[in-house]
Amino acid sequence: MLKSFKRLVNPTAKTKRDEEALISSIKQHPLPQHIAIITDGNGRWARKRGLPRTAGHAAGMMRIREIIRSADEIGLPVLTFYSFSTENWKRPRKEVEYLMRLPIEFLKSDLKELIERNVKVQMLGDKQQTPQETYAALLEFEKQTAQNTGLILNFAINYGSRGEIIHAVQQMIQDAKNNQIDADMIDESLFSQYLLTKGLPDPDMVIRTSGEVRVSNFLLWQIAYSELWFTDALWPDFTSYMLFEAIQEFQSRTRRYGAVT
Ligand code: FPP
Repeated sequence: MLKSFKRLVNPTAKTKRDEEALISSIKQHPLPQHIAIITDGNGRWARKRGLPRTAGHAAGMMRIREIIRSADEIGLPVLTFYSFSTENWKRPRKEVEYLMRLPIEFLKSDLKELIERNVKVQMLGDKQQTPQETYAALLEFEKQTAQNTGLILNFAINYGSRGEIIHAVQQMIQDAKNNQIDADMIDESLFSQYLLTKGLPDPDMVIRTSGEVRVSNFLLWQIAYSELWFTDALWPDFTSYMLFEAIQEFQSRTRRYGAVT
């Protein structure tokens, strides 16, 4: 059963040799420092196969595992997944319950490997509003990997960028009232310190799967200069090879940050 499921989520596997050639080519150029991914299309993937939406999320979870491994293997410094937005609570109760169980399952199945890989797991978003068991799993991930120094792996859970920005402004006003900052000090760099991504490089690249071409309230401040990469592939069909192709395209783009070159 598991074997056939694996085949189902690996429809267009490239040969190992194709993949190795692509990896060695991207390793000859600077890698992005931070890739952020909007993993969209799990529901449609399941519907196309006459399966419940939750099967799409299960397949999506397998893909998340694969992409983490690949990112770690090429030495990517930071990887962020948009896993659950503040708007996703509006989904059917059963689906929300299923999604909230995924971190618990993932903890059981993958924490050991993530520790072995020296991956540091962090959450972006208001995790306290998640169900108690989910919250405990999210905390456990952070606690058990806090000292790790390898790939920084962020999951945006119960995350919304406008909410994050408003929260940052509230914190700044509070700090101003306490005379810790004043208006003259506020610049982009200080503002960034009030965001949940404090201390992390901004994403150089945002990937969104499933043919949707929008950013959906994801890291709005942080992606001001990001390269955007969209693919029609549904998330459970997104292979490591596609990740490497996206990186290769990123490396061929000239980033000007508004200047003339
Ligand atoms: C988008 O597909 C996917 C999601 C809303 C959830 C994805 C999250 C996970 C699979 C894992 C979270 C796990 C951890 C460990 C944090 P969609 O349902 O919007 O697809 P559709 O647009 O085709 O309906």
